[in-house]
Amino acid sequence: MNRAPIGIFDSGIGGLTVARAIYRHLPQESTIYFGDTARVPYGSKSPDTVRRYSEEILHWLLRQDVKAVVVACNTSTAYALDRLQQQSPVPVIGVVEPGAAAAARACRDGTIGVIGTAGTVASGAYPHRRVIQQACPLFVPLVEEGWFDHPATELVASEYLAPLRRAGVDALVLGCTHYPLLTPLLARLMGPGVILIDSAEETASTVADTLAALGLAASPPHTLPNTGASDPPSHRYVVSDDSSRFLTIGARFLGERLTAVELAAWE
Ligand code: DGL
Repeated sequence: MNRAPIGIFDSGIGGLTVARAIYRHLPQESTIYFGDTARVPYGSKSPDTVRRYSEEILHWLLRQDVKAVVVACNTSTAYALDRLQQQSPVPVIGVVEPGAAAAARACRDGTIGVIGTAGTVASGAYPHRRVIQQACPLFVPLVEEGWFDHPATELVASEYLAPLRRAGVDALVLGCTHYPLLTPLLARLMGPGVILIDSAEETASTVADTLAALGLAASPPHTLPNTGASDPPSHRYVVSDDSSRFLTIGARFLGERLTAVELAAWE
C-alpha cells in the first residue's frame, strides 16, 4: 500500500502548483495527476456540476489504486470535499483547510483576505471571523497566458486588490491554484506588511502529515535485489483533452519540463 501512488486532481493545469509542492515535501512518493482539461474552468460552474465532475474523477483515481487523493483545486474543494470524503475508502485532502489554518495561525486577531474563483468565494468555504473575500476571475486566463508580471495583469490586480488594501488585511490567502505564480506581483501590490499564504505549500505539508499519521508514507527508493538498480518514484499525468497545451503551459506551473501526458480513457 505504501508504494501506491497519491492521486492528485484539478480542473486542469493549475493543480500542478500543488503537485510541485508535493514533490518537494514528499520526494519519495509516486503520483498520478488528473487534469480535467476538457471541462475547465470549474470556477464559473454551478456547485452541482463541480460536484459531479469531482466525483467522476475521484472514482477514476480510485480505480488506479491510489492510497490517498489530493483535491488540488480550490473550487472542487470548496464545493465537493465533504462528499468526496464520504465516498472514498482512502483519505481525501483538500486545499482550502490547510490555507485557512495557516492564515488563522499567521494573524490570530487580524483580518484575512481571500482571493479565489467566483465559485470558491461564493461557497463561503473559508471560515474565519474576519474574512474579506474577492473573486478574481481574470487571473486564471492571465496566468495561463504567462503574463505573471505584465502591465495588464498589474492593472487587473490593482482593481481586484483595492478593497482588500482598503480593509487593511493582515494576510492574503491565495485561494486558487493559479495564484502562486502571481506571488511577486501580489506581494508588491499588497505591501510588505501583508503575509501571503500559498495554499499549495500548506496542502503539501498536510499531505505529508496525514500520510505519516496513517502509516501510509512511502519509504525512500530502495535498491532492487539482483540488478542493483533503484526504484524511483514515478509521476503520471493524465488529462481529459488536449495534452499538447498541457505539456507546454504545464511546465510553467510545475517549474520543470513535462515529458509525457496521457489522454484519459474513461472506463
Ligand atoms: N483550479 C481552479 C481553482 O483552484 C482554477 C481554475 C478553474 O476555474 O477551473 O479554483
